[in-house]
Order: sequence, then C-alpha cells, then structure tokens
Amino acid sequence: MPAFFLKETMDTTVSNEDFLATVAEKSDGAALRGDYSKADAHYVVQQDWAAYTEAEHELWRKLYQRQLELLPGRACDEFIEALHAMQIADGIPKFETTSDELFKATGWTIVAVPGLIPELTFFEHLANRRFPVTVWLRKPEEFNYIVEPDVFHDFFGHVPLLFNPVFADYMQRYGQGGLKAMQLGGLDQLARLYWYTVEFGLINTPQGLRIYGAGILSSGGEVEYCLQAGSKSRHIRLDVERCLCTLYKIDSYQETYFVIDSYQQLFDDTAGDFTPLYEKIKHLETLHANSLLPGEVELLPAR
Ligand code: PHE
Ligand code: CO
Repeated sequence: MPAFFLKETMDTTVSNEDFLATVAEKSDGAALRGDYSKADAHYVVQQDWAAYTEAEHELWRKLYQRQLELLPGRACDEFIEALHAMQIADGIPKFETTSDELFKATGWTIVAVPGLIPELTFFEHLANRRFPVTVWLRKPEEFNYIVEPDVFHDFFGHVPLLFNPVFADYMQRYGQGGLKAMQLGGLDQLARLYWYTVEFGLINTPQGLRIYGAGILSSGGEVEYCLQAGSKSRHIRLDVERCLCTLYKIDSYQETYFVIDSYQQLFDDTAGDFTPLYEKIKHLETLHANSLLPGEVELLPAR
C-alpha cells in the first residue's frame, strides 16, 4: 500500500523523492517502519524468511486462528476457499511458495516490500500483476489494531482474493487506472475506490452480505462490526461516482460500506474511462464518511 492512502485528503501528488519526507509526517509523527536500505528501484526486497523468530511465527498462528474462527458466515466463499488452499496456518508463509501457486492460477505474483511504498511504484506493481506484501510482522501489543499494513494484513487479507480471476483483473485495471489518475489529478478520488472496495468492500450473496475487503478480513473487531444489523454504519450499493466523492476514516471502523453484487459488476462498473468522471467530480461536493443520500437504501436492515 502507498503511504498516500493513510492521508485522507491531500492536494498534491508525492514524487518518489519526497516519499520519505511525506511518511515522516504520518499522523503520529513517527518514522517509516521497515528497512528500506536494501530495496531496489521498485522498492522490492528479499523476504529473508529464515530471519523470522519463533515468537513471530507464534504470533502469526494466533492472528490466523483468531481470524479463521470469525470467517464462517462473514467472509465470502472465494476468500475462505483460497485461504484454505494456501495452507498458511502454521507460521509466516514463504512468499515464493504462494507466489508460484498464484501465478499458475491468475498470473499474479507476490513481491516483498519493506512497508509503505510510493503510489507510482504501487500502481506499477499492480499494473504488472505483482502484489506488494510487507515483510515485517506487527508486535504482540498490536494484535488487535495497526495503522500501517504489516505482513499479516497484506498476505492474509489481500492474497486470497487474487486467486479469483475477475477480482485479479480488477486489481490490475486499478493499477493502470492509478497511473492514469496521477496524470489527471484524480488520485484522491481513485484512492477512495480502493479503500471502499479492495480494503473495506462487502458483497451481496444469496446467503446475505459477505466480506471481501482485506482491511476488514485482517481486523479482529471489524469483521464482526461491519455486518452488525442496527449499527450506525451504512451498507449501500456501490455507485462508483458516489464512492469517488466519499471521504474515509483511517483510524476507526468504516461509517459506510459499499456493497457489490459480484466481482464482474465491480469490474464492469469501473471499466469505462474515468477522465470525464474526474472532471465532473471536481465540481461536486465531497461527502463525509457517514453521508446517506436521498434514495440510498440500507442493505442491512435492523432485525
Ligand atoms: N477505468 C478507469 C479509468 O479509465 C481505471 C480503473 C479501472 C479504475 C478499474 C479503477 C478500477 O481511469
Ligand atoms: Co491493504
């Protein structure tokens, strides 16, 4: 994930050179986590699997187990099936093993990165069907919550859905769209789409709403919260233009969840040229994270 996503609104595009300086302004003022000294020009590093400690593998197993128990009836079938096939319950996985399997399934690979990366680099990876996964694992005291994505969020949350061919194509298109948005000044808007789909998306199924967003699936609390009928959050059908106008919160549960009917719908609804959309949106009002517009229907009614 690029550091950019951790800033809700930002007017200027950050160049690679300004990247470190930008991340130094993170809300808590802390420096970048992760070791960038060995990264190549694409911010790719070696995973160095042998360097993980037994305590880290144990923490991974605990994180995995806790999430696994929350998934039935909440996560979408595509996620659960792929997760089991990946066999990553026993410790921090070797990226290469899953990457080879993923490549056979959908032509995607996993690349190891030190942590947050510049958006240009991030989009280039996605556009070339490479998913960047952070190498470091959170600390035990961050078991429930972490702002910066770690290996558990990136790997457990994102990689399973990349085994789905339609979603995998959507992710590549998103990367291409990101490169284009940088030229058109549409980055803030496009980031919202990623946030509300790839990170916090819900999907409608005959059995009810299910989670496909990685930010929810790797979070202890939000997996339960996001499907709670009667909570103060909204669950509304994804409308791309509406989504592009909607601000998001990075440090609390989402106040709005956008629901898709299928990955094909997600792909089709975002397939058109966004150029006129960015132009139009410039003149529209930005919506708060908890907006509900006339005509919008709550898809998870209180029981
Ligand atoms: N179709 C969008 C464009 O022309 C790109 C895009 C594709 C954005 C998929 C998001 C998801 O800019
Ligand atoms: Co993520």
